[in-house]
Amino acid sequence: MTNILLSRFSYNECNISEVGKGTLEYIRSHLKHLLPTMSGNSLTVSPARIEDREFKQPLLCGPGPANYWPAMNDALTKWVISPMDDEYFWVLQDIRAGLQYAFQTSSPLVLAISGAGHSGMETVISNLLGRGEKLLIASRGIWDERACSMATRYGITPIVHSTAMTSTFSLSELEEQLKVHRPAALFITHGDSSTGSVQHLPGLGDLCHQYGALLIVDTVVSLVAVPFEMDRWGVDAVYTSLQKGLSGPAGITPVAFSARAEEKIKNRKHEPPFYFDMKLLAQQWNCYGDTRSYHHTLSPPLLWALRCSLQELCREGLEQSWARHAAATARFHQRLQTMPVTFLIPKPEDRLATVTTVVIPKEYDQLAVLKHIRDKYNIVIFRGLGPTVGVALRIGLMGVNATLQVADQVADALEDALITLKKGKL
Ligand code: GLV
Repeated sequence: MTNILLSRFSYNECNISEVGKGTLEYIRSHLKHLLPTMSGNSLTVSPARIEDREFKQPLLCGPGPANYWPAMNDALTKWVISPMDDEYFWVLQDIRAGLQYAFQTSSPLVLAISGAGHSGMETVISNLLGRGEKLLIASRGIWDERACSMATRYGITPIVHSTAMTSTFSLSELEEQLKVHRPAALFITHGDSSTGSVQHLPGLGDLCHQYGALLIVDTVVSLVAVPFEMDRWGVDAVYTSLQKGLSGPAGITPVAFSARAEEKIKNRKHEPPFYFDMKLLAQQWNCYGDTRSYHHTLSPPLLWALRCSLQELCREGLEQSWARHAAATARFHQRLQTMPVTFLIPKPEDRLATVTTVVIPKEYDQLAVLKHIRDKYNIVIFRGLGPTVGVALRIGLMGVNATLQVADQVADALEDALITLKKGKL
């Protein structure tokens, strides 16, 4: 009986049923609580059937995630590092230096949050504003709605100024809002993946500061693909993602705060959630010197992954990365102009380099188009999200997929879907 029970506890070459008799006796007399099945109780839930399935990695041409850099597979299987290793702190330092380059900031308060893009949004909002403070939200897509919902949960007062989903904001209308409401901060999305638009930002930082507000910017789907310069543009808090322009896995989210934002954090009267507290995280990430304190356990594969993407970025150069994204998108847009489709965003200068929102004629079934492209070409594109559900398809060229070759591949697939489904259905 004992042997049957104990043999369940085998793991590779370490089979507990093979341990010496003396050891078994020791377990029986002193450590029985560690092996509850020795007391004859059987488990109430049996092992799940977890089996591998067939899956062929598609070409990811939606609004993100993008495919990984080729070097990512190695990065994800690098050593498990812990705060007991100097290497761990070197990795954090590499990441912070890479992020300062990516965001174009010399601020020391730059690090990555353990969590997907929303954790960045939650970090900036909850660190910079407290109960009763006003957050002006320039709203044109789903991410601004999320910011509003987060602010509300923290007792912050959101003031939503909306524009059409096909449009972006003028500086003068935002100035008007700042003047009237005098918010503690303005939240705005740079690239909006739900609508496929890009907001013009230069000049907005100065305007915000003139009216005593901080400027918070979401660059989840724009960073490294579209020009962004935190310090030069006076941005006070920004976050991005790893799974879009940086072509890595989701789950770790870079954030950066300006000196002005840092001052606000130092003097705030409210406490943000423990997990997102920048005062504590700055100590963990060693932002101000030799602090190296423990806050939570960082994921080694995600640290290596972020480091890998930043290494790729630094090798290529930001300007080259911006130019590559612009060229791929220009090629794709030229190809779209030969098809029976239209751009959701009418003004070319408002179109985002990473995500294009494409309106196909009403006669087509959007899901059939997506399915055709997936089944025949193993390319994934997405339907609309938030305000664009049922309105437009979202087609993305970002990270490693921002190339002329991928632009042509997706254009060929879409063209074929439109011809084939026309024959069959219209
Ligand atoms: C996610 O970021 C999306 O745009 O669907």
